[in-house]
Amino acid sequence: MLLLSVVFQVEAQDLAGKRSTSFQPGVIWPDNNGVHINAHGGGILYQNKTYYWFGEHKIAGGAGNRAMVGVHCYSSKDLYNWKDEGIALSVSPDTTSDIAKGCILERPKVIYNKKTKKYVMWFHLELLGKGYKAARTGLAVSNKVNGPYRFIKSYRPNAGKMPFYPEGTPESEKVNCASPATKSDGFFCRDLPGGQMARDMNLFVDDDGKAYHVFSAEENFTLDIAELSDDYTSHTGKFVRVYAGHQTEAPAIFKHNGTYYMIGSGTTGWAPNPARWFSAKSIWGPWTYHGNPCVGDGSQITFGGQSTYVLPVAGKKDAFIFMADKWTPKDAIDGRYLWLPITFKGDDIEIKWLDNWNLDFFNDKRSK
Ligand code: DGJ
Repeated sequence: MLLLSVVFQVEAQDLAGKRSTSFQPGVIWPDNNGVHINAHGGGILYQNKTYYWFGEHKIAGGAGNRAMVGVHCYSSKDLYNWKDEGIALSVSPDTTSDIAKGCILERPKVIYNKKTKKYVMWFHLELLGKGYKAARTGLAVSNKVNGPYRFIKSYRPNAGKMPFYPEGTPESEKVNCASPATKSDGFFCRDLPGGQMARDMNLFVDDDGKAYHVFSAEENFTLDIAELSDDYTSHTGKFVRVYAGHQTEAPAIFKHNGTYYMIGSGTTGWAPNPARWFSAKSIWGPWTYHGNPCVGDGSQITFGGQSTYVLPVAGKKDAFIFMADKWTPKDAIDGRYLWLPITFKGDDIEIKWLDNWNLDFFNDKRSK
């Protein structure tokens, strides 16, 4: 381990100060101080011509997945070179706080609310010492993009609320809590009074400014897509269940040419598995399952990673980056980032491994 971290530091120092002009998936990615970027399970907000990357700050060694520090923020103008903006949300030294140091705080995402002018962060929260039982979502808010974010609350969403069904949904697909038809329906009904479990998650802001929270619910057997209030700080109670009965994690939603896309993964802990994608003409579905978007060598294990976000590149047409984490649970800080371009084939999508690439990929259709 010592040897590994020495190699890691030397590698990072060698690269310090050099401007990067390409993405190298899976390779140490030094920030402006030459330190490997520490923003795992992250997502990106584009604001004032700057990209802000928020993710889980991990520490070296045995803390594993426990949150000992908080949510780290970085900024970039070009997506290759990142400046350390510090800790945006700190865990609390108060052991009775929902975000007590040592809790599990995963997959933080930030969106900007134009009406309130606030930056709104949601994340998956597990209470200190309770493993993955709490399955809550947490909220923190800031006036400044890089923080400090103030923790507001954590809870399980949509308590007492039944799903929304788009017109034409067959009765057989509707959950019936008088007699749940499947295992996942059973979990849904069990959790109805207290709110649905909310684990792996993402946020999506639509063109009309409405925001949605997508999360693994029902012991990961279903993805819920839930509408947020106008100020983005609560759930309205309107939501749909997607791909019920199949365990899905790591959801990431994006929109292209009026179609909604979602990429996710299976559920194998920190070990990689095949990705899966879905599409829909409305955020409320129906969502169609399409299988694995990855092709070529390594596609059966998402090239060793798990989805965390899909980033629309500002100012470029048809340019979306699939962002994934290559987890290293024994030394979580060493986790790597796999950023790969998404290629559209008609309405279908495809993700291929590239050792080294840059944004020109999106200009040159022949390269695909
Ligand atoms: C995979 C998830 O996607 C991660 O965010 C984390 O919850 C791990 N499982 C825990 O095993």
